[in-house]
Amino acid sequence: MKNQVPRIKTHLPGPKAKKILAGDERFVSPSYTRPYPLVMKRGRGAWVEDVDGNTFLDFSAGIAVCSTGHAHPEVVAAIQKQAAEFIHMSGTDFYYAQMVELAERLAASVPGKGKRKVYFGNSGAEAIEAAMKLARFHTRRDKFIAFYGAFHGRTMGALSLTASKVTQRRGFSPLVPGVTHIPYGYCYRCPYNLNPQTCSIDCGTFLRDVVFKTEVPPEEVAAIFVEPVLGEGGYVIPPKEFLLELRRICDEFGILLVADEVQCGMGRTGRMWAIEHFGIEPDILCTAKGLASGMPIGVMVARDKIMDWPPGAHASTFGGNPVSCAAALATIKLLERTYIANAERMGKYILERISDWPQKHRLVGDVRGLGLMVAIELVRDKSTREKATEERGRVLHEAFKRGLLILGCGESVVRMMPPLVINEHQADLAIDILEEVLGRIEKK
Ligand SMILES: Cc1ncc(COP(=O)(O)O)c(C=O)c1O
Repeated sequence: MKNQVPRIKTHLPGPKAKKILAGDERFVSPSYTRPYPLVMKRGRGAWVEDVDGNTFLDFSAGIAVCSTGHAHPEVVAAIQKQAAEFIHMSGTDFYYAQMVELAERLAASVPGKGKRKVYFGNSGAEAIEAAMKLARFHTRRDKFIAFYGAFHGRTMGALSLTASKVTQRRGFSPLVPGVTHIPYGYCYRCPYNLNPQTCSIDCGTFLRDVVFKTEVPPEEVAAIFVEPVLGEGGYVIPPKEFLLELRRICDEFGILLVADEVQCGMGRTGRMWAIEHFGIEPDILCTAKGLASGMPIGVMVARDKIMDWPPGAHASTFGGNPVSCAAALATIKLLERTYIANAERMGKYILERISDWPQKHRLVGDVRGLGLMVAIELVRDKSTREKATEERGRVLHEAFKRGLLILGCGESVVRMMPPLVINEHQADLAIDILEEVLGRIEKK
């Protein structure tokens, strides 16, 4: 439908949703964090229908996963065709063309000279685990550098690199030893209290000038793990020089630079890889989420000289499942044909429409974005930048009641991460709902 709008016709949650929520409470792990009770029935493009027949505009894309929208016909056809041929054979012990074809496509697309090879897992965390293991194996070094605010996953290794929310780590120690966290290049909340216009990128030089001189011998560091755009930590776009300095440090000390593009990769920022905006080459790149439009897959792409581990060193039964590979190949085709360019265009459109919100809205401290990773950072006070965490929760909830699915990140950021297929009408709807919600909450 061309000018479709959200339609909420029951109380939320509706009667059918309530039944499912009750079952969820009884039988499902309580460790999940649902901000509001959306119970999905079906989805098409950027639209989602719940079990009670309410229709929502989806600006969450299943947490940045449904890159080509829900149930894109070409992705569905690729999945159906592959499932009818064979669903599983395990690429760890046998061969199939889909895995090779996808590896070839991914190896060719990661920026940089020289050959690359691809390891297949099932999730972002598995891709990160694989990168940690490979970095240790190849360098014979045991230490890692990561960043405050970073989210790299929840398995023991990936969790050791994660420093996003303390609940994610509480009670799980001891984690993998040898990880040092340092501040990310977060200009709106500069950890060094500097002015981004005049600073000397202390966020980049801190590692060389302080950490390597006082705490961590650089020759013991296997890898630096960095999200080129910080995802769960608040949709933060670092200054270009921050990443350039990390690349220089890696080159100088023989450290591997690992780009975690699990969230910011696969066209979301308006380029296939977020790292392309910064003009640097990673040694290893991990991606997952948007790669197969919702089928589970996670990959680690490394320079072939680095991927020198022998048979048996690392593998996963389901990794590179043929149905997921088929979905990924269809996804890449669609992204390259249409949706990466659309992400760039629509990201600019949204950012332009909300660029005056920090002046117009009492609660909005900052707006920023790269492609369809758009952040609206909420503050209680513009001079102290006190985080408006509770208000952010209300924004998400009120948007839900009006038929907009949107999530937060960081402590007080509303993030827009729609499927890359959205059009201007859908962007306008989301912006108008958010503006109305913000206005109401600001009046209280
Ligand atoms: C940047 C980043 N890395 C890794 C992960 C972990 O991915 P998964 O949840 O698929 O394990 C996430 C998930 O949000 C992520 O955003």
